[in-house]
Amino acid sequence: MLVFALALTLGATAQVKVKVSETAQGQPGIPAEIYGQFSEHLGRCIYEGIWVGPDSDIPNVEGYRIDVLEALKALKVPVLRWPGGCFADEYHWMDGIGPRENRPKLVNNNWGSTLEDNSFGTHEFLNLCEMLGTQPYISGNVGSGTVEELAKWVEYMTAENGTMAELRAKNGRKEPWKVKYLGVGNESWGCGGDMTPDYYSDVYKRYALYSRNYSGNQLFKVACGASDYDYNWTRVMMKNAASKMDGLSLHYYTCKGWVGSKGAALHFTNEDYYNTLAKCVEVDEVLRNHEAIMDAYDPQRRVALLLDEWGTWFDSEPGFNPGHLYQQNTLRDAMVAALSLNIFNKHTARLKMANIAQVVNVLQAMILTKGPQMLLTPTYHVFRMYSVHQNATYVPAEYDCERLVSEEGRIMDKFSASASRDASGVLHVSLANPVLDKPVTVELSFDSLKPKTVTGEILTAPDVHAYNDFGKEPAVKPAAFTGTKISGNKVKLTLPAASIVVLEVK
Ligand code: AHR
Repeated sequence: MLVFALALTLGATAQVKVKVSETAQGQPGIPAEIYGQFSEHLGRCIYEGIWVGPDSDIPNVEGYRIDVLEALKALKVPVLRWPGGCFADEYHWMDGIGPRENRPKLVNNNWGSTLEDNSFGTHEFLNLCEMLGTQPYISGNVGSGTVEELAKWVEYMTAENGTMAELRAKNGRKEPWKVKYLGVGNESWGCGGDMTPDYYSDVYKRYALYSRNYSGNQLFKVACGASDYDYNWTRVMMKNAASKMDGLSLHYYTCKGWVGSKGAALHFTNEDYYNTLAKCVEVDEVLRNHEAIMDAYDPQRRVALLLDEWGTWFDSEPGFNPGHLYQQNTLRDAMVAALSLNIFNKHTARLKMANIAQVVNVLQAMILTKGPQMLLTPTYHVFRMYSVHQNATYVPAEYDCERLVSEEGRIMDKFSASASRDASGVLHVSLANPVLDKPVTVELSFDSLKPKTVTGEILTAPDVHAYNDFGKEPAVKPAAFTGTKISGNKVKLTLPAASIVVLEVK
């Protein structure tokens, strides 16, 4: 506690110099998929959140609620993972095709024993992806499904001819869909089958082998990876199966711990705030460690790392089914998103996808709904502001800054930045000041660029507990950022306490 307090009071006037090397050559691209989303049959993510059915009073197009659809379009979702999560390893896709009234009911054993009617299935998901212009990422059932079941699912979705294609056509879809990403199991060390990495690596190879490429569709096969600090899982998977996979996943949640209370999303102390952020930025080290293991087995970096679940995980909001993982979202969550995305941008030599959990009504959601009402969370705004980095080229942005030690003993920077150059040559710099009680003065300098204009947006609020609530004016929303001063090849600005700024530099 003493160390924590000292860290907060030392270095009263925060100033950071950021060297943006816009002429640096050979930098990796930032795959759009780093800004990916995750949708699971969990709580009100699919049902009510995305899908209300064509007969609903909630305005919808063919069953998809219009407000959510429009908000997701504006977010430019590059990839959407489905149907789980833990749900995936108990999902039998054949239950979710054909006339909806004939589909069997399903008890969602993982998530609150909710009874589902399977009205959202393969067609509903893949059509949604087409409407959004997003890539589907199918999570296959390995835990309780067969090799044949997964093989046939792939055939059903992607083959032009054959029995599965005929069945698909009979169900209303003649043309196959394009499906690139196929996850072969989820958390196979836990809810996805409770396997050891040695055992799973053989299982993975069997399921992956029979998941074929049909009609020009090229699968990108993702093996189930580790959770957090389980480096042994990554090591064994790379040793046993690297040559048979295109990607290996990883899950990392900003969570206080898996036993007992995870803390409330809305009510937290300053110590809780820094504990959360310090845990969140530890993902940098965790990624580096997994990447180093992958480098040892795959120095050419052929196998991608996919952080296909990440985000904050707090206690469920009071009054909601605890198995539905519904939590509110404050400026603290926005800060977690900003710090995480700045880190992910720097790892794209190996990290090719990240999927925040989850898109609507679950964990660190973009969107929350309550009956016919919908709101955009602070995290949504960060994703929208940061979407400028999608498919841009990484630009090194180096700085030295003060650090603090959280009450839990983690060390974190008191500042965060990353930069990229888009296809038209425009530079974007995303900056965050996580410190609650002090602004930070930032000086950006460029190799040779003499900026003519700098525009930007800021996301902040007078109180870090601020959140957007139903029926109220949004308390956290972006505003134009105007406080920049250009002088030669330098730009100066001040980031208020607890703020996130994305600049466009021309
Ligand atoms: O996102 C919620 C759950 O967290 C997922 O279903 C599972 O994969 C992870 O444990």
